[in-house]
Amino acid sequence: MEHVAVNPWVALAYLIAGVCFILALRGLSSPTTSQRGNRFGMIGMGIAVVTTLVTHVPVTTTLIEGYDYAALIARIDYVAALEIVAAIAIGAVIGVTTARRIAMTAMPQLVAAFHSLVGLAAVLVAAAAFLNPVAFGIARILVDPLSGTPLAYILPVSRIEMGLGVAIGAITFSGSVIAFLKLNGNMGGAPIMLPGRHVINLGVLAAILLLVAYFTVDQSPWVFWTITILSFAIGFLLIIPIGGADMPVVVSMLNSYSGWAAAAMGFTLHNSAMIITGALVGSSGAILSYIMCRAMNRSFISVIAGGFGSAPDAGAGGAAKVDRPWKRGSAEDAAFLMSQAEQVIIVPGYGMAVAQAQHVLREMADKLKEHGVRVKYAIHPVAGRMPGHMNVLLAEANVPYDEVFELEDINSEFAQTDVAFVIGANDVTNPAAKTDKTSPIYGMPVLDVEKAKTVLFVKRSMGGVGYAGVDNDVFYMDNTMMLLADAKKMVEEIVKSLD
Ligand code: TAP
Repeated sequence: MEHVAVNPWVALAYLIAGVCFILALRGLSSPTTSQRGNRFGMIGMGIAVVTTLVTHVPVTTTLIEGYDYAALIARIDYVAALEIVAAIAIGAVIGVTTARRIAMTAMPQLVAAFHSLVGLAAVLVAAAAFLNPVAFGIARILVDPLSGTPLAYILPVSRIEMGLGVAIGAITFSGSVIAFLKLNGNMGGAPIMLPGRHVINLGVLAAILLLVAYFTVDQSPWVFWTITILSFAIGFLLIIPIGGADMPVVVSMLNSYSGWAAAAMGFTLHNSAMIITGALVGSSGAILSYIMCRAMNRSFISVIAGGFGSAPDAGAGGAAKVDRPWKRGSAEDAAFLMSQAEQVIIVPGYGMAVAQAQHVLREMADKLKEHGVRVKYAIHPVAGRMPGHMNVLLAEANVPYDEVFELEDINSEFAQTDVAFVIGANDVTNPAAKTDKTSPIYGMPVLDVEKAKTVLFVKRSMGGVGYAGVDNDVFYMDNTMMLLADAKKMVEEIVKSLD
């Protein structure tokens, strides 16, 4: 594979693609503009892929000078071209099928799975470049003075790019696989703590960095493959001690890593679009991780250090303490209380997503509005299992955006609200985060639902716990009424009662 001579149109096309990606990120910052943002992203990626394909036509013979396209067409390696087209077609079919079939609740693990593919791709590109550096234009052929055999001398700068690319790619791959297994329930959500893990992790990270530095003076295969193996290992070691409640930060951190891995590979492949896109993904993922850490009131270092959410049965929905008195209500009770209210704040969480209750929830809100009730939605930044999870579901159900409020904009209103209607949320309403220093969610800002005159709490059973695996005092408060049922069924019953 070779480069056709540098063409100014290529730079322009990549620039347009880069602008599209920036507009995509901007669009994705709000639910109202997110679809437009997505379209920009698709257009940008389309331009980048087509430009890359037409400028990297596989040819059978040596470098083609100038713009001799007739000569180029005569030398196209049609078998290789067919392989590329087949790979794109297979990827497209898998992508479209997955996108159509995937349930909203499985989105976080899908994202983790896709990140693992980006990491693996970076490893494979680095390995291909290492094994055949001349084809990638990153080596000079030197003759060994002793044996007289020709040697592909990889340029030191390319060795750094390759070393960092393969390291970040391998960490992204193995880390994302573990994140996938945890989010998909194939592995328990509880942190797995190895003794002396901090020392092991720091030792392995230091060894990787030293080897990347050493790679610049010695391009022996053992250096490259040791970097790769150690990086696979550290990705695994870094993620297994991270517990359920920190998984969102991990997923966006891996998102960031996958971007940097792609950017490093962009240098190896001399592809500026990959460098731009990788840097955008890398920095936006890092910013998102920072925002989420702030939303959980945790430092990035403490998340990486792991061990959070180590309560028994964390994330597995294990037994919670149910020996305190609590009140059970019915759909009729809930309908009556809410129809009499001046304001109801709905707090959706992961359970709403599981039950797919968003559409009937909007119906309930419409009915309440007919009764003259003011309805608002309070969204916690980490409600559900991925950033923006609740916003996406509510948007899907056509909930008006001006009824949806972020935590900091609505938290002060609970004290003046008649009913807080908590549907499938748990951790994000748990007051232990404010008071109990021993709680794994201590310090995370939470929605002050307990301050409302009445709290209606929809969940399936008293035994089920939230993602962090901890009990919630709100269940047992005097002003709380538990509505134990599947969220969708319960809201359907409430809608009937409101009729
Ligand atoms: P959780 O604390 O996980 O609570 C979910 C609640 O929904 C549980 O009380 C569960 O109780 C109930 N539930 C489950 N299925 C239900 C159904 N079909 N019908 C009715 N209720 C149902 O959810 P949350 O409050 O949204 O908090 C999110 C948690 O996940 C946080 O700890 C957060 O850190 C973590 N997390 C977030 C993300 C992102 S980025 N948002 C990613 C990974 C992890 P029952 O089992 O008794 O029904």
